[in-house]
Amino acid sequence: MSKKQYFWRFDGNENRYLNLILKRGLRPKKGKNFNLLLEKKWSKLHRLKYSMTVNSCTSGLHAGLCALSLNKGDEVLLPALTPVMPANAIIFAGLKPVFVDVDPDTFLIDPKDLEKKITKKSKAILLVHLYGNVCDSKTFQKIAKKYNLKIIEDCAESLVAKDKNGVMAGTMGDIAVWSFQSAKHITCGDGGIIATSNPKIAIMARKYSNLGFKFLQPSGDRIIVSKSSLQRPSTSRFSLIGYNYRMNEFSAAIALAQTERINHFIKMRRYVSLKMIKEINRSKILKAQVVPKKAYSTFYTLSAVLSKKIKWIDFQKKFILFGGDSFYAASKIIQDEPSIKNSRYKLHKTPVAKKLQKHIINFCTNQGSIKLADKQLKALKKTINYFS
Ligand SMILES: Cc1ncc(COP(=O)(O)O)c(C=O)c1O
Repeated sequence: MSKKQYFWRFDGNENRYLNLILKRGLRPKKGKNFNLLLEKKWSKLHRLKYSMTVNSCTSGLHAGLCALSLNKGDEVLLPALTPVMPANAIIFAGLKPVFVDVDPDTFLIDPKDLEKKITKKSKAILLVHLYGNVCDSKTFQKIAKKYNLKIIEDCAESLVAKDKNGVMAGTMGDIAVWSFQSAKHITCGDGGIIATSNPKIAIMARKYSNLGFKFLQPSGDRIIVSKSSLQRPSTSRFSLIGYNYRMNEFSAAIALAQTERINHFIKMRRYVSLKMIKEINRSKILKAQVVPKKAYSTFYTLSAVLSKKIKWIDFQKKFILFGGDSFYAASKIIQDEPSIKNSRYKLHKTPVAKKLQKHIINFCTNQGSIKLADKQLKALKKTINYFS
């Protein structure tokens, strides 16, 4: 296949790595396993000690929450304005979600509402770094310390983004999880990765995500028993009840190739986003998600609030008519999703998130070429002019 025929997203080493597996099989020599190579690269990129590949961010959040060794019914605080998956993970882990309001400018979890909702049962904060933006590390580390709470980070939408202190998403808490689902900055179809520098949490996360095998170690390449002793009839294998959340080698090969090109993908997303922000700032009908000064967003989407005077659906129709990509609204606040609304969990009030959600536009930033990105900009200019 000529290089030109590759879809832009898989234009790196994906094909070469997949072919390597097809030629040599699924049991390569020590150190050549793509899951391990990816885990090592991830740890280095984030300056964290341990990384563990999994088959999605949702499963990673579940295993990560289990790894914190909380007690059944303990409360985990999370923002209401996020896709529902982190709440699902909290519930899967036998914990109680507590929905917290968001800041109307950054769209991120509001520390003031968070503090109001902390109770004796609160044991962790699940920070969701939304749309490429990052929660402020100092603020939440201070609250976590004050109330003795763990921090778990959902970095699905904010790969290598940084807060205003230069702290990268995934490195401010006890454990963090990323997504490689098909819309994300990098993808292998579906997949995810967990990372932490805490060896006790790492071993638990690895066991919960890999069937509870008792021989597993925090860094996946250390085997503590010989093959021959493993094969004996007297050998017991499992030390806890774990899930099979493993990533397969083919996915890991693609995710590794994608990780090698993170800078390229981020550059493209930032190119279109920064230009869109300029257009938005000139208009009176849209207000872009605020990225604090000195922070670095990786713009999973370029998100903005549309004036209440304009119908969301009318704006979308015109944008598409002018050549723009179809875009998404913000996910309904978690408490309004039927799965949660009809469950037995308390639906805490989050008025800012509820109001904001109806007017958010998430423009796509994954066009993959300057030409296609410029087409979006033109469509945006025309749509803004039309409604202004
Ligand atoms: C903030 C957030 N968390 C979690 C997820 C779940 O990711 P995955 O599909 O890899 O489970 C997503 C994916 O859309 C997301 O946007």
